[in-house]
Amino acid sequence: MDLIIENIEEVIVQTKSQLQQNLPDLTGIFKDVERYIAEEVSIIETSINEGKSVIPEVSYEDIDAENIDIETIDIVKKRGCVVIRNVFSKSMIDEWNKELGEYITTNGYYEQCQDKAHLDQYFSSLQSSKPQVFGIYWSQPQIKARQDERMAKSKAWLNNLWTYENDGNLVFDPNKECTYADRIRRREPGDNTFGLSPHSDAGSIERWIDKGYQRVYRNIFNGNWQDYDPFDATYRTEISEIPSPAVSHVFRTFQGWTALTEQGPNDGTLQLIPIVKNMVYILYRALLEDVPDDSLCGALPGRALDTSPEWHVLSLKALSPIPLLNPGDTVWWHPDVTHAVENIHAGKNYSNVMYIGSSPLCKKNSDYLSIQGKCFLKGESAPDFANENYEVNYLNRATMDDLSDLGKKQMGFTPW
Ligand SMILES: [Fe+2]
Repeated sequence: MDLIIENIEEVIVQTKSQLQQNLPDLTGIFKDVERYIAEEVSIIETSINEGKSVIPEVSYEDIDAENIDIETIDIVKKRGCVVIRNVFSKSMIDEWNKELGEYITTNGYYEQCQDKAHLDQYFSSLQSSKPQVFGIYWSQPQIKARQDERMAKSKAWLNNLWTYENDGNLVFDPNKECTYADRIRRREPGDNTFGLSPHSDAGSIERWIDKGYQRVYRNIFNGNWQDYDPFDATYRTEISEIPSPAVSHVFRTFQGWTALTEQGPNDGTLQLIPIVKNMVYILYRALLEDVPDDSLCGALPGRALDTSPEWHVLSLKALSPIPLLNPGDTVWWHPDVTHAVENIHAGKNYSNVMYIGSSPLCKKNSDYLSIQGKCFLKGESAPDFANENYEVNYLNRATMDDLSDLGKKQMGFTPW
Protein backbone atom coordinates (compact mmCIF):
# COMPACT_ATOMS: atom_id res chain seq x y z
CA MET A 1 0.00 0.00 0.00
CA ASP A 2 1.21 3.49 -0.81
CA LEU A 3 1.82 6.08 1.88
CA ILE A 4 1.01 9.51 0.47
CA ILE A 5 2.15 12.50 2.51
CA GLU A 6 1.71 16.11 1.48
CA ASN A 7 4.01 17.90 3.88
CA ILE A 8 6.73 15.51 4.88
CA GLU A 9 8.69 17.94 7.09
CA GLU A 10 5.58 18.75 9.13
CA VAL A 11 4.77 15.07 9.59
CA ILE A 12 8.35 14.35 10.70
CA VAL A 13 8.24 17.18 13.28
CA GLN A 14 4.90 15.98 14.67
CA THR A 15 5.86 12.30 14.71
CA LYS A 16 9.18 12.93 16.41
CA SER A 17 7.52 15.03 19.07
CA GLN A 18 5.00 12.25 19.79
CA LEU A 19 7.63 9.53 19.86
CA GLN A 20 9.85 11.63 22.14
CA GLN A 21 6.96 12.23 24.56
CA ASN A 22 6.58 8.46 24.89
CA LEU A 23 10.28 8.11 25.68
CA PRO A 24 10.95 10.42 28.66
CA ASP A 25 14.16 8.55 29.50
CA LEU A 26 15.47 8.36 25.93
CA THR A 27 18.96 9.48 26.94
CA GLY A 28 19.31 6.62 29.42
CA ILE A 29 17.77 4.10 27.03
CA PHE A 30 20.07 5.21 24.24
CA LYS A 31 23.11 4.73 26.48
CA ASP A 32 22.07 1.08 27.00
CA VAL A 33 21.61 0.58 23.27
CA GLU A 34 24.99 2.16 22.57
CA ARG A 35 26.57 -0.21 25.08
CA TYR A 36 24.92 -3.19 23.38
CA ILE A 37 26.04 -2.10 19.91
CA ALA A 38 29.57 -1.34 21.19
CA GLU A 39 29.82 -4.88 22.61
CA GLU A 40 28.68 -6.40 19.32
CA VAL A 41 31.08 -4.18 17.37
CA SER A 42 33.90 -5.34 19.59
CA ILE A 43 33.02 -9.04 19.07
CA ILE A 44 32.85 -8.49 15.31
CA GLU A 45 36.13 -6.53 15.16
CA THR A 46 37.90 -9.20 17.18
CA SER A 47 36.66 -11.94 14.83
CA ILE A 48 37.71 -10.01 11.75
CA ASN A 49 41.16 -9.33 13.24
CA GLU A 50 41.51 -13.07 13.84
CA GLY A 51 40.70 -13.67 10.18
CA LYS A 52 37.30 -15.21 10.86
CA SER A 53 34.17 -14.39 8.89
CA VAL A 54 31.40 -12.92 11.01
CA ILE A 55 28.61 -13.81 8.59
CA PRO A 56 27.10 -17.15 9.67
CA GLU A 57 27.12 -19.95 7.12
CA VAL A 58 25.06 -23.07 6.54
CA SER A 59 25.07 -25.54 3.67
CA TYR A 60 22.11 -26.43 1.51
CA GLU A 61 22.72 -30.10 2.33
CA ASP A 62 22.25 -29.39 6.04
CA ILE A 63 19.03 -27.48 5.38
CA ASP A 64 17.77 -30.38 3.29
CA ALA A 65 18.70 -32.87 6.00
CA GLU A 66 17.18 -30.62 8.71
CA ASN A 67 20.53 -30.71 10.36
CA ILE A 68 21.01 -27.12 11.56
CA ASP A 69 21.59 -26.79 15.27
CA ILE A 70 19.98 -24.24 17.55
CA GLU A 71 23.26 -22.39 18.18
CA THR A 72 23.58 -21.70 14.45
CA ILE A 73 19.98 -20.50 14.29
CA ASP A 74 20.57 -18.21 17.27
CA ILE A 75 23.61 -16.61 15.68
CA VAL A 76 21.83 -16.21 12.31
CA LYS A 77 19.02 -14.40 14.13
CA LYS A 78 21.42 -12.21 16.07
CA ARG A 79 23.48 -11.30 13.01
CA GLY A 80 20.41 -11.00 10.76
CA CYS A 81 22.24 -12.53 7.83
CA VAL A 82 23.46 -15.87 6.57
CA VAL A 83 25.30 -17.48 3.69
CA ILE A 84 23.69 -20.63 2.32
CA ARG A 85 26.34 -22.58 0.43
CA ASN A 86 25.85 -24.77 -2.58
CA VAL A 87 22.22 -24.06 -3.45
CA PHE A 88 23.12 -24.55 -7.12
CA SER A 89 25.90 -26.54 -8.76
CA LYS A 90 28.81 -24.65 -10.31
CA SER A 91 28.15 -26.17 -13.72
CA MET A 92 24.53 -25.00 -13.74
CA ILE A 93 25.50 -21.52 -12.59
CA ASP A 94 28.26 -21.23 -15.20
CA GLU A 95 25.73 -22.08 -17.87
CA TRP A 96 23.23 -19.53 -16.54
CA ASN A 97 25.87 -16.82 -16.27
CA LYS A 98 26.88 -17.36 -19.88
CA GLU A 99 23.27 -17.44 -21.03
CA LEU A 100 22.55 -14.16 -19.22
CA GLY A 101 25.49 -12.49 -20.93
CA GLU A 102 24.23 -13.64 -24.32
CA TYR A 103 20.65 -12.56 -23.53
CA ILE A 104 21.87 -9.05 -22.76
CA THR A 105 24.25 -8.58 -25.64
CA THR A 106 22.28 -10.25 -28.43
CA ASN A 107 19.19 -8.28 -27.49
CA GLY A 108 21.06 -4.95 -27.55
CA TYR A 109 20.79 -3.97 -23.89
CA TYR A 110 23.87 -1.74 -23.91
CA GLU A 111 22.60 0.31 -26.84
CA GLN A 112 19.14 0.67 -25.27
CA CYS A 113 20.28 1.74 -21.85
CA GLN A 114 21.94 4.98 -22.97
CA ASP A 115 18.49 6.60 -23.08
CA LYS A 116 17.11 5.15 -19.89
CA ALA A 117 19.72 5.72 -17.19
CA HIS A 118 17.81 8.65 -15.66
CA LEU A 119 14.77 6.50 -14.84
CA ASP A 120 16.20 4.98 -11.68
CA GLN A 121 16.74 7.58 -8.97
CA TYR A 122 16.62 5.38 -5.85
CA PHE A 123 20.31 5.80 -5.16
CA SER A 124 20.85 9.49 -5.74
CA SER A 125 24.61 9.13 -6.14
CA LEU A 126 24.38 6.43 -8.78
CA GLN A 127 26.22 7.61 -11.87
CA SER A 128 25.13 6.74 -15.34
CA SER A 129 27.93 4.95 -17.13
CA LYS A 130 28.32 1.43 -18.36
CA PRO A 131 25.64 -0.46 -16.45
CA GLN A 132 26.60 -2.80 -13.64
CA VAL A 133 23.02 -3.56 -12.59
CA PHE A 134 20.66 -4.56 -15.37
CA GLY A 135 16.92 -3.98 -15.55
CA ILE A 136 16.44 -7.58 -16.62
CA TYR A 137 13.69 -9.59 -14.91
CA TRP A 138 12.50 -12.34 -17.21
CA SER A 139 15.49 -14.19 -18.61
CA GLN A 140 15.38 -17.99 -18.66
CA PRO A 141 18.10 -18.37 -16.00
CA GLN A 142 16.28 -16.05 -13.59
CA ILE A 143 13.03 -17.96 -14.02
CA LYS A 144 14.84 -21.28 -13.54
CA ALA A 145 16.63 -20.13 -10.40
CA ARG A 146 13.50 -18.59 -8.84
CA GLN A 147 11.36 -21.68 -9.31
CA ASP A 148 14.04 -24.21 -8.45
CA GLU A 149 13.09 -26.71 -5.73
CA ARG A 150 16.38 -26.20 -3.87
CA MET A 151 15.77 -22.46 -3.87
CA ALA A 152 12.24 -23.06 -2.54
CA LYS A 153 13.59 -25.23 0.26
CA SER A 154 16.25 -22.66 1.17
CA LYS A 155 13.64 -19.92 1.34
CA ALA A 156 11.28 -22.06 3.42
CA TRP A 157 14.09 -22.55 5.92
CA LEU A 158 14.73 -18.80 6.04
CA ASN A 159 11.02 -17.97 6.38
CA ASN A 160 10.70 -20.45 9.23
CA LEU A 161 13.26 -18.50 11.25
CA TRP A 162 10.47 -15.96 11.73
CA THR A 163 7.50 -16.11 14.09
CA TYR A 164 4.72 -16.02 11.53
CA GLU A 165 1.67 -16.72 13.68
CA ASN A 166 -0.01 -14.24 15.98
CA ASP A 167 -3.04 -15.15 18.13
CA GLY A 168 -3.85 -18.02 15.81
CA ASN A 169 -3.60 -15.81 12.70
CA LEU A 170 -1.07 -16.69 10.05
CA VAL A 171 0.90 -13.55 9.14
CA PHE A 172 2.44 -15.44 6.23
CA ASP A 173 2.86 -19.02 5.07
CA PRO A 174 6.55 -19.84 5.46
CA ASN A 175 6.42 -22.81 3.10
CA LYS A 176 4.83 -21.06 0.13
CA GLU A 177 6.67 -18.42 -1.78
CA CYS A 178 5.67 -15.46 -3.94
CA THR A 179 8.17 -14.73 -6.68
CA TYR A 180 9.59 -11.24 -6.43
CA ALA A 181 11.23 -10.55 -9.77
CA ASP A 182 14.38 -8.51 -9.30
CA ARG A 183 17.37 -7.60 -11.44
CA ILE A 184 20.86 -8.92 -12.04
CA ARG A 185 24.29 -7.48 -11.37
CA ARG A 186 27.23 -7.99 -13.71
CA ARG A 187 30.06 -5.94 -12.32
CA GLU A 188 33.26 -5.76 -14.28
CA PRO A 189 36.73 -5.74 -12.66
CA GLY A 190 37.99 -2.22 -12.03
CA ASP A 191 34.53 -0.71 -11.92
CA ASN A 192 34.25 2.23 -9.55
CA THR A 193 30.80 3.51 -10.55
CA PHE A 194 28.55 1.19 -8.62
CA GLY A 195 29.50 1.46 -4.96
CA LEU A 196 26.52 1.74 -2.66
CA SER A 197 27.02 3.42 0.68
CA PRO A 198 25.68 1.61 3.77
CA HIS A 199 21.89 1.53 3.73
CA SER A 200 18.76 -0.44 4.48
CA ASP A 201 15.89 -0.95 2.06
CA ALA A 202 12.22 -1.61 2.91
CA GLY A 203 11.54 1.95 3.97
CA SER A 204 13.37 5.09 5.08
CA ILE A 205 11.26 7.68 6.94
CA GLU A 206 8.38 5.16 6.91
CA ARG A 207 10.11 3.34 9.75
CA TRP A 208 9.23 6.24 12.06
CA ILE A 209 6.08 7.74 10.56
CA ASP A 210 4.10 4.81 9.13
CA LYS A 211 1.49 3.37 11.51
CA GLY A 212 2.33 -0.19 10.45
CA TYR A 213 6.02 0.32 11.16
CA GLN A 214 5.20 2.02 14.47
CA ARG A 215 3.48 -1.24 15.44
CA VAL A 216 6.39 -3.36 14.18
CA TYR A 217 8.71 -1.25 16.33
CA ARG A 218 6.26 -0.86 19.22
CA ASN A 219 8.69 -2.20 21.80
CA ILE A 220 11.34 0.22 20.60
CA PHE A 221 9.07 3.25 20.59
CA ASN A 222 7.72 2.40 24.07
CA GLY A 223 11.24 2.10 25.47
CA ASN A 224 11.32 -1.69 25.96
CA TRP A 225 13.79 -2.32 23.17
CA GLN A 226 15.09 -5.48 24.84
CA ASP A 227 11.68 -7.02 24.04
CA TYR A 228 11.89 -6.05 20.38
CA ASP A 229 12.02 -9.24 18.32
CA PRO A 230 13.22 -8.53 14.76
CA PHE A 231 11.92 -11.93 13.70
CA ASP A 232 8.36 -11.38 14.91
CA ALA A 233 6.42 -10.89 11.66
CA THR A 234 3.37 -9.32 13.30
CA TYR A 235 2.44 -6.08 11.46
CA ARG A 236 5.37 -6.46 9.04
CA THR A 237 2.93 -7.20 6.24
CA GLU A 238 0.86 -4.13 7.15
CA ILE A 239 3.32 -1.38 6.44
CA SER A 240 2.86 1.24 3.73
CA GLU A 241 5.57 2.68 1.52
CA ILE A 242 6.13 6.08 -0.02
CA PRO A 243 5.96 5.31 -3.74
CA SER A 244 9.19 5.59 -5.70
CA PRO A 245 10.99 3.43 -8.26
CA ALA A 246 13.01 0.69 -6.54
CA VAL A 247 11.11 0.91 -3.24
CA SER A 248 9.88 -2.59 -2.53
CA HIS A 249 6.13 -3.11 -2.07
CA VAL A 250 6.47 -6.67 -0.87
CA PHE A 251 7.36 -8.10 2.49
CA ARG A 252 10.68 -9.93 2.35
CA THR A 253 11.83 -12.07 5.25
CA PHE A 254 15.29 -11.74 3.74
CA GLN A 255 16.79 -9.83 0.87
CA GLY A 256 19.36 -11.85 -0.96
CA TRP A 257 21.26 -12.84 -4.03
CA THR A 258 22.72 -15.87 -5.70
CA ALA A 259 26.37 -15.73 -6.75
CA LEU A 260 26.90 -16.28 -10.48
CA THR A 261 30.67 -15.93 -10.13
CA GLU A 262 33.22 -16.37 -7.37
CA GLN A 263 33.38 -13.18 -5.27
CA GLY A 264 34.55 -12.06 -1.87
CA PRO A 265 36.21 -9.15 -0.08
CA ASN A 266 37.44 -6.42 -2.48
CA ASP A 267 35.60 -7.89 -5.45
CA GLY A 268 33.20 -4.96 -5.51
CA THR A 269 30.57 -6.92 -3.68
CA LEU A 270 28.40 -6.96 -0.56
CA GLN A 271 29.24 -5.74 2.92
CA LEU A 272 26.94 -6.09 5.91
CA ILE A 273 26.56 -4.67 9.40
CA PRO A 274 25.78 -8.04 10.96
CA ILE A 275 23.84 -6.73 13.94
CA VAL A 276 20.12 -7.02 13.31
CA LYS A 277 19.33 -4.74 16.26
CA ASN A 278 21.34 -1.94 14.73
CA MET A 279 17.91 -0.71 13.62
CA VAL A 280 17.14 0.03 17.28
CA TYR A 281 20.16 2.30 17.36
CA ILE A 282 19.15 4.01 14.11
CA LEU A 283 15.57 4.59 15.24
CA TYR A 284 16.50 6.06 18.64
CA ARG A 285 19.42 8.06 17.23
CA ALA A 286 17.07 10.21 15.14
CA LEU A 287 15.07 11.14 18.24
CA LEU A 288 17.98 12.55 20.24
CA GLU A 289 18.14 16.26 20.97
CA ASP A 290 21.09 17.06 18.70
CA VAL A 291 19.12 16.08 15.58
CA PRO A 292 17.06 18.94 14.05
CA ASP A 293 13.28 18.61 14.63
CA ASP A 294 12.52 18.08 10.96
CA SER A 295 15.31 15.56 10.39
CA LEU A 296 15.53 11.80 10.77
CA CYS A 297 19.33 11.73 10.48
CA GLY A 298 19.19 12.43 6.78
CA ALA A 299 16.52 9.85 5.89
CA LEU A 300 14.80 10.88 2.67
CA PRO A 301 11.45 9.73 1.27
CA GLY A 302 11.63 7.28 -1.60
CA ARG A 303 15.30 6.58 -1.04
CA ALA A 304 17.37 4.00 0.78
CA LEU A 305 17.84 4.60 4.52
CA ASP A 306 21.46 5.56 5.09
CA THR A 307 23.66 4.47 7.94
CA SER A 308 25.93 7.49 7.82
CA PRO A 309 29.32 8.64 9.16
CA GLU A 310 27.58 11.78 10.43
CA TRP A 311 25.12 9.98 12.75
CA HIS A 312 26.04 6.31 13.07
CA VAL A 313 29.81 6.10 13.45
CA LEU A 314 29.60 3.39 16.09
CA SER A 315 27.69 0.87 14.01
CA LEU A 316 29.69 1.58 10.88
CA LYS A 317 32.69 0.07 12.65
CA ALA A 318 30.98 -3.31 12.23
CA LEU A 319 30.63 -3.04 8.46
CA SER A 320 32.00 -6.42 7.37
CA PRO A 321 32.78 -8.07 4.04
CA ILE A 322 31.02 -11.26 3.07
CA PRO A 323 33.24 -14.34 2.93
CA LEU A 324 34.41 -15.66 -0.44
CA LEU A 325 31.34 -17.03 -2.20
CA ASN A 326 31.44 -19.64 -4.93
CA PRO A 327 29.09 -19.75 -7.90
CA GLY A 328 25.83 -21.22 -6.60
CA ASP A 329 26.22 -19.95 -3.04
CA THR A 330 23.64 -17.47 -1.78
CA VAL A 331 23.65 -14.68 0.79
CA TRP A 332 20.64 -13.38 2.71
CA TRP A 333 19.97 -10.46 5.03
CA HIS A 334 17.02 -9.32 7.16
CA PRO A 335 15.15 -6.25 5.86
CA ASP A 336 16.38 -4.15 8.82
CA VAL A 337 20.04 -4.96 8.16
CA THR A 338 22.39 -2.28 6.86
CA HIS A 339 24.32 -3.35 3.78
CA ALA A 340 26.63 -1.76 1.25
CA VAL A 341 28.44 -2.51 -1.98
CA GLU A 342 32.18 -1.89 -2.12
CA ASN A 343 33.07 1.24 -4.10
CA ILE A 344 35.79 -0.34 -6.14
CA HIS A 345 35.89 -3.74 -7.72
CA ALA A 346 39.57 -4.53 -7.21
CA GLY A 347 39.27 -8.19 -8.19
CA LYS A 348 40.15 -9.82 -11.49
CA ASN A 349 36.82 -11.36 -12.51
CA TYR A 350 33.27 -10.21 -13.01
CA SER A 351 31.25 -10.24 -9.78
CA ASN A 352 27.82 -11.25 -11.00
CA VAL A 353 24.67 -12.00 -9.03
CA MET A 354 20.99 -12.67 -9.47
CA TYR A 355 19.01 -10.75 -6.87
CA ILE A 356 16.56 -13.22 -5.36
CA GLY A 357 15.02 -12.47 -1.99
CA SER A 358 12.53 -14.43 0.07
CA SER A 359 8.93 -13.18 -0.01
CA PRO A 360 6.49 -15.67 1.48
CA LEU A 361 2.81 -15.94 0.73
CA CYS A 362 0.69 -13.29 2.47
CA LYS A 363 -1.95 -10.85 1.25
CA LYS A 364 0.54 -8.04 0.68
CA ASN A 365 2.78 -10.22 -1.50
CA SER A 366 -0.07 -11.89 -3.30
CA ASP A 367 -1.53 -8.43 -4.17
CA TYR A 368 1.80 -7.56 -5.73
CA LEU A 369 1.81 -10.79 -7.75
CA SER A 370 -1.36 -9.78 -9.54
CA ILE A 371 0.35 -6.62 -10.84
CA GLN A 372 3.68 -8.33 -11.46
CA GLY A 373 2.04 -11.14 -13.45
CA LYS A 374 0.83 -8.66 -16.08
CA CYS A 375 4.36 -7.26 -16.42
CA PHE A 376 5.73 -10.77 -16.89
CA LEU A 377 3.29 -11.55 -19.68
CA LYS A 378 4.18 -8.34 -21.52
CA GLY A 379 7.90 -8.51 -20.75
CA GLU A 380 7.80 -5.18 -18.91
CA SER A 381 9.98 -4.24 -15.93
CA ALA A 382 8.72 -5.59 -12.61
CA PRO A 383 6.32 -3.06 -11.03
CA ASP A 384 8.59 -2.01 -8.14
CA PHE A 385 11.35 -0.90 -10.48
CA ALA A 386 12.00 1.88 -12.96
CA ASN A 387 9.72 1.66 -15.96
CA GLU A 388 12.50 0.80 -18.41
CA ASN A 389 10.79 -2.15 -20.11
CA TYR A 390 13.93 -3.33 -21.83
CA GLU A 391 12.77 -6.86 -22.44
CA VAL A 392 9.48 -6.29 -24.24
CA ASN A 393 10.87 -7.40 -27.60
CA TYR A 394 13.71 -9.60 -26.39
CA LEU A 395 14.28 -12.94 -28.01
CA ASN A 396 14.32 -15.93 -25.68
CA ARG A 397 12.47 -14.07 -22.91
CA ALA A 398 10.65 -16.46 -20.57
CA THR A 399 6.94 -17.01 -21.13
CA MET A 400 4.19 -18.97 -19.38
CA ASP A 401 5.48 -22.14 -21.07
CA ASP A 402 8.73 -21.80 -19.13
CA LEU A 403 7.05 -21.82 -15.73
CA SER A 404 6.98 -25.10 -13.85
CA ASP A 405 3.95 -26.06 -11.75
CA LEU A 406 5.73 -24.58 -8.75
CA GLY A 407 6.72 -21.49 -10.74
CA LYS A 408 3.09 -20.85 -11.72
CA LYS A 409 2.00 -21.02 -8.09
CA GLN A 410 4.83 -18.75 -7.01
CA MET A 411 3.85 -16.26 -9.70
CA GLY A 412 0.19 -16.33 -8.62
CA PHE A 413 -1.03 -17.85 -11.90
CA THR A 414 -2.38 -21.02 -10.29
CA PRO A 415 -3.60 -21.62 -6.73
CA TRP A 416 -1.51 -23.48 -4.19
FE1 LIG B 1 20.04 -2.47 -0.80
